[in-house]
Amino acid sequence: MNKADYDEIVRVIDWWWGGPTASLAHPVFFYELGKIARIMEVDGKMIGFLLGFLTAEPPPIGYIHMVGIHPDYRRRHVGRKLYESFEDSCRSAGCTLMKAVTAPGDERSVQFHEALGWVWETVPDYAGPGRARVVFTKRIG
Ligand SMILES: CC(C)(COP(=O)(O)OP(=O)(O)OC[C@H]1O[C@@H](n2cnc3c(N)ncnc32)[C@H](O)[C@@H]1OP(=O)(O)O)[C@@H](O)C(=O)NCCC(=O)NCCS
Repeated sequence: MNKADYDEIVRVIDWWWGGPTASLAHPVFFYELGKIARIMEVDGKMIGFLLGFLTAEPPPIGYIHMVGIHPDYRRRHVGRKLYESFEDSCRSAGCTLMKAVTAPGDERSVQFHEALGWVWETVPDYAGPGRARVVFTKRIG
């Protein structure tokens, strides 16, 4: 992912999500973690992106921070391909577990992750007092 790709993510993210979300595209995902980010393009236009990282401790955990697909390109397995590509990199790096987190009530994200073989649980106070989160995991080793 280059800086123009990152800038494009910041430009489209509120639109793709349908509300203020740009703060989640923290610059650390470009400057420090851009090499592992994924984007998908059609005719030079970005139609999907995935921001994530691998944790440091052995075995590393492959963490997916955020995935977004252009509204006109949903349900065409763009998200699935981005996840599979990231998962391949995680396996190659020796990860045995993958993880992602979302807010309770995000049914689309739950259905998407379930379809890709992830399991989930709602964890009270995960993100601090009164801030429950849905925690997704997938064993890959
Ligand atoms: C969630 C999201 C990433 C899915 O991306 P996508 O490219 O449309 O998903 P895919 O086409 O790869 O879907 C794979 C499977 O997930 C499931 N799925 C995906 N979107 C779904 C939806 N809206 N409702 C129900 N199931 C869904 C389906 O089983 C699908 O397979 P199928 O189409 O063959 O039935 C996309 O809708 C998106 O960007 N949403 C806005 C941002 C967001 O919610 N991100 C996730 C939290 S960070």
